[in-house]
Amino acid sequence: MRKPLIAGNFKMHKTINEVVDYAKGLMNSVQGVSDRDILICPPFTALSEVFKIIEGSHIALGAQNMHYESKGAFTGELSSEMLRDAGCDSVILGHSERRHILKEEDSFINLKVKKAVESNLRAIFCVGELLEEREGEMAEAVVKRQIELGLKGLSETDMEKIVIAYEPVWAIGTGKTASPDDAQTMHSFIRKTIVSLFNTNVAESLVIQYGGSVKPANINDLMAMPDIDGALVGGACLEVDSFSKIITFT
Ligand code: 13P
Repeated sequence: MRKPLIAGNFKMHKTINEVVDYAKGLMNSVQGVSDRDILICPPFTALSEVFKIIEGSHIALGAQNMHYESKGAFTGELSSEMLRDAGCDSVILGHSERRHILKEEDSFINLKVKKAVESNLRAIFCVGELLEEREGEMAEAVVKRQIELGLKGLSETDMEKIVIAYEPVWAIGTGKTASPDDAQTMHSFIRKTIVSLFNTNVAESLVIQYGGSVKPANINDLMAMPDIDGALVGGACLEVDSFSKIITFT
């Protein structure tokens, strides 16, 4: 049985104090929730302060990116070791905003995924097609390529540290959610791709999250789908109240 994972990606929002207040509020509001995993990914600046609040609780801490080298002359970058030091057990990699705005390529993301796994970080590996790719009936081919190249060289054991987040780019921050049926079709395709790259056991254990305009009003229908195992939430995670409602989906 896969345990659902609800993760909040704060993107470039909130100061240190705001994240600390938020974390205190969230801890209160989701106290006692144990049948699903909860992850928050605030900006780098807030990681170590917020870790002091949530350490030992059932809320895990993740970063939104990292570099694949351990140290060196990489101005502005952070290593997996630094993220662990700040209290992270997870990291988002290959987010579409990094793929498209910051031009990260599959091979570059693959180096980071491998390094995250080696460092015992859970990698939330994001995939998803652009609107024109969906309209051109290329969505599955694009997602397959992202998975094949992004997870290249990983072993079956490495896959225990991987979560895939399917985030159709046209649904991110637009208010347009993929319909539960469309999302399910892609999630099932992703699981089949994992069967072909690894095996059925790896595919059946893999948590596949949906992301893209997830909100309290649509989480139940998404989570009712057999291959949707959680959500990666942007805008709607920024308020404790709406994120708590998403976490406590029924
Ligand atoms: P929104 O929930 O704001 O659409 O963002 C989704 C996302 O990109 C999460 O990583």
